[in-house]
Amino acid sequence: MAKVLKPVGVIASGSKSFYAPVLVYKDAERVLREESLAVIRDRVTGKQYLGLIRWLSKIDPLLPATQRSGVVDNPRLAEIATNVPFETSYVRIIGEICGGKLEPTVDPPTPRSEVLLIESPEDLALDVGEGMTIGEHKYSGVKVPLNPKYLPYHIGVVGATGAGKSRLVKALIDEVLSKTDWKVIVFDHSGVDYTSYYPHNVVDASLVMPDPVTLGELIAERSTLERQEEYILATVYAYIASFKRTSTTTHGPQKPDKVLTPSGTSFACSMRFVEGFDFTNTEKLMTEITWDLHLFRKCVERVGKELEAKDPTVAKMSLLIGTYSKELIESLNKKKLTAREVVDRVLKERIVVVDLSSVEMVVRRYIVKSVIDELWRIVDERREKPRTLVVIDEAHNYACMGCGASLRSIERTAREGRKWEIGLVLASQRIIDFSTDIRNNINTFYFSRLQTPGDFENLRGVLDLGGLGPESLSVLGVREFFFAGLGNPLRFPILMRVKEVGEPTMG
Ligand SMILES: Nc1ncnc2c1ncn2[C@@H]1O[C@H](COP(=O)(O)OP(=O)(O)OP(=O)(O)O)[C@@H](O)[C@H]1O
Ligand SMILES: [Mg+2]
Repeated sequence: MAKVLKPVGVIASGSKSFYAPVLVYKDAERVLREESLAVIRDRVTGKQYLGLIRWLSKIDPLLPATQRSGVVDNPRLAEIATNVPFETSYVRIIGEICGGKLEPTVDPPTPRSEVLLIESPEDLALDVGEGMTIGEHKYSGVKVPLNPKYLPYHIGVVGATGAGKSRLVKALIDEVLSKTDWKVIVFDHSGVDYTSYYPHNVVDASLVMPDPVTLGELIAERSTLERQEEYILATVYAYIASFKRTSTTTHGPQKPDKVLTPSGTSFACSMRFVEGFDFTNTEKLMTEITWDLHLFRKCVERVGKELEAKDPTVAKMSLLIGTYSKELIESLNKKKLTAREVVDRVLKERIVVVDLSSVEMVVRRYIVKSVIDELWRIVDERREKPRTLVVIDEAHNYACMGCGASLRSIERTAREGRKWEIGLVLASQRIIDFSTDIRNNINTFYFSRLQTPGDFENLRGVLDLGGLGPESLSVLGVREFFFAGLGNPLRFPILMRVKEVGEPTMG
């Protein structure tokens, strides 16, 4: 049997198909809240409308704001007639409820129709479908699920610092893991937001081997040799290729897992070895060879000469690399993982959190890029759908116009992910920091209090906010987010309170 809903008011004259004015009943004045869910029951047409309470307003007919009234000069009058003021509001109509489904509104509700409040999930006679829920509508407890079919249409989570973005994303990840067969790879920028929730699935980014280009860039930067970066890059390739040569000259069967140790005498580094060298899966080879500062310096001297660098330049490169890049080059011996192996782990374990905090920005971006590229390799080579959600927190560091390596891979995913089931979850304080291509391809948003007034305009530029103004966001507390866009079955921003996501339990 349908529950009796609480009547809270009546539709007044001048209703529209999207906004209808409400005269609030006296006993309901303390009950209504901005963004409460309500139903309008139209006895004349038999229709039911679903909407949100907005623009609550208290009126006193004896105190018009533009006229001087006796009440002002005679405060005792105000004490006598305390029940004269009354409340009005509007219902922002979301749609018509027809046979348990939501349909677009085609005509306004008849004035005098009753407005009823939705106070609990049972009050809503509407099928909102199945899916993942990060919480409930703040006042009614109604769950508004995100259907998994919208995961590859990408999700943005935006809000000022401390709004609760990372906790919301954590709630979403757990829902994805428990309610779908999607896999999840999380890039934890700070290293403290996700790693301790999934301690058995963490990959330390400092163990992941960079590709030759990123390595060349790093050595050049560390050694203050940015202007000589091309020589250094050539050296990196020559160094790798020289090891391959050392190994192939040995007799007997190849042992692919064997660490290739250079013998001091046989190690010769030259650009000649780079020619015709098979650089597929180079990173794997890089995890198998020995990285030795002394040999690397010999290599840069030789390559420098071969490429006709001037003698002082060659000497400078060798000296500065010896002084500033010792630690970096030797640390490569500890990097035993490749991006491909990280993705293999995701496919096997369903969730992997990459702790990016241990490496510098250029490496972080490289890792994000190369892991995403590995997902695309599955598509390009095997025509398989990875069905993987790529979660990037503090995403402005990876999806911005100047974000180098990671930008292109995220953009490709934003544009083409839907066809191949690779979805993005990008959390950030500011949406403007995402490249236009990325911004325009995010179809579902959770947004909260924003960092600056300009952020509101940016959000409005990519999303139908259903008449919400900046003031509606500025009053939001921690854990309060509007859920909007394609993934929302109501297709209208709904104010959600994110479920409790406690501190990680240790051990
Ligand atoms: N769903 C939640 N359950 C419990 N506590 C929460 C929740 N959301 C937020 N909090 C509280 O608010 C704090 C900030 O949340 P969170 O780290 O998710 O914010 P953020 O938006 O990611 O901030 P930043 O931009 O600084 O990364 C948390 O440490 C926690 O104390
Ligand atoms: Mg955060």
